Amino acid sequence: LRTILIGPPGAGKGTQAPRIRDEFCVCHLATGDLLREQITKQTELGKMAKKIMDAGELVSDEVMVNMIKDQLENNKACKNGFVLDGFPRTIPQAEKLDAMLGSRGEKLDSVVELVIPDQLLISRITGRLIHPGSGRTYHKEFQPPRKPMTDDVTGEPLIQRSDDNVATLTKRLTTYHKQTGPVVDYYKNKGLWVGLDAAQSPNLVWENLRKVFQQGS
Ligand code: AP5
Ligand code: ZN
Repeated sequence: LRTILIGPPGAGKGTQAPRIRDEFCVCHLATGDLLREQITKQTELGKMAKKIMDAGELVSDEVMVNMIKDQLENNKACKNGFVLDGFPRTIPQAEKLDAMLGSRGEKLDSVVELVIPDQLLISRITGRLIHPGSGRTYHKEFQPPRKPMTDDVTGEPLIQRSDDNVATLTKRLTTYHKQTGPVVDYYKNKGLWVGLDAAQSPNLVWENLRKVFQQGS
């Protein structure tokens, strides 16, 4: 399976992608998670990326394309396929991905857009909690951890992302519509696009996602 989950901040990419990873034994490449790893390690890339992410803007195409290229080449978990989450976010990223896959004799099966109105995203983003080590995601109201502010698996503390405030979200949404909206059309033109209602419960979204992939295979 080689697929992309595309959708605005809070649409549910990071909630659904791990389910796809586990069910289909593919790797989950989340560029936001990979950047946050660099921030935690305080690398030069991480320092540069943090400023951009907190401003709700996009890290350069060159950096992001190299990051995905490195993963596809070196991450053994990607041998069976992948689910991309947060990439591609611009037309140049989508074109570079096509070229990369083409040179490996591979191609995408589908591109799933998680469709949801902007006004539903505020509560999703402001209530989100994450486990920084794994990227595991919870929600104060909609997906609460068993113990408050504590990861179910490791017992470690949960945190809020520094870009999960209303001001940065507003900027992230503008960026999404302007730069990533055209990527949706790019895949529609290639006949790869599937739209899915993401305003339902996580389990219903997952049921519908599974149907997409079972039909596709
Ligand atoms: P990234 O980490 O990718 O952030 P994003 O795209 O804004 O998406 P989110 O992670 O906010 O949303 P999600 O769809 O994963 O939602 P989730 O499932 O967690 O990127 C961060 C930044 O990095 C970017 O702004 C940019 O600066 C940079 N960057 C990353 N990739 C880049 C690229 N390719 N190029 C350039 N720059 C890049 O769900 C959200 C919340 O809602 C959770 O609390 C969850 O529990 C809850 N929830 C999920 N589904 C449901 C549901 N069905 N019902 C109720 N609640 C739900
Ligand atoms: Zn995410």
